[in-house]
Amino acid sequence: MKRQRVIVAVWKEKLTFTQSVSASKAIVRMTEKQEWPFEVAIAPNPFSYAGVADVVRGAPIRLCSQNVLWKAESGSYIGETTIEMLLEFGCNYIIVGHSERRLHFNETNDMIANRALAAINAGIRPILCIGDTAEDKEANRSREAITGQLRSFFEKLPGSVSHQDFLIAYEPVWAISTWRSGKLPPGQEVQELHAHLRELIGEIRTPDFADRVSLLYGGSVAPENAEEYMAQKDVDGALVGGASKTPESFIGTLQAGRLGFQNKV
Ligand code: PGA
Repeated sequence: MKRQRVIVAVWKEKLTFTQSVSASKAIVRMTEKQEWPFEVAIAPNPFSYAGVADVVRGAPIRLCSQNVLWKAESGSYIGETTIEMLLEFGCNYIIVGHSERRLHFNETNDMIANRALAAINAGIRPILCIGDTAEDKEANRSREAITGQLRSFFEKLPGSVSHQDFLIAYEPVWAISTWRSGKLPPGQEVQELHAHLRELIGEIRTPDFADRVSLLYGGSVAPENAEEYMAQKDVDGALVGGASKTPESFIGTLQAGRLGFQNKV
């Protein structure tokens, strides 16, 4: 079974245009001439996207958008990014349903599924983020929370969509950007939730389909823990936020992730 493996630098709105261009140049330089058992991708902010696209052209670095409009055509949707715009620069992945979009911009499961479908229809793979909040965890309903988010995505997904047309990222909201404060799920806990998601996808589609869906983990992935997370059986890659802010710590995360993939259980 071969699943898509990818580690994405998710810069959110933390780097300016100049910083994004300079960081992407450093990433190209620091990753070239090395073998990576996964794809390396960068998700810059929309304003820096074109600049980063210019830098990575010709290098084996993939481009990832942080969001996309759910309508196929560009038009009167102020503040949004459209597929048409992304296609001009090349785009391999689009993050949809990130918890910060759900929390600060009131994005619903429905909206998120529509964004994912727009990406799929354009031949770009969405990375659907799902995750439990601190309250969910406290109340022991983490599985329920991610089950609901996953089901509502699959309800909208046409039967013709294949396992390679999308990826899922499990991101516990309580573990986002917390690695310095130590609130992190152990690798085993991440593995259990990923196995739960795979089983669920197997029930919705088929076990064979589920076996081929790529499941990423996101939440404080860093040089110190990427090996442990990537070594888990059902973890196929990562979304890296805070630790991708400097090229050095992103490369450290990639290197640790590579060890994890090599030692996968
Ligand atoms: P983090 O962010 O690595 O800073 O926790 C990950 C994310 O929000 O996708």
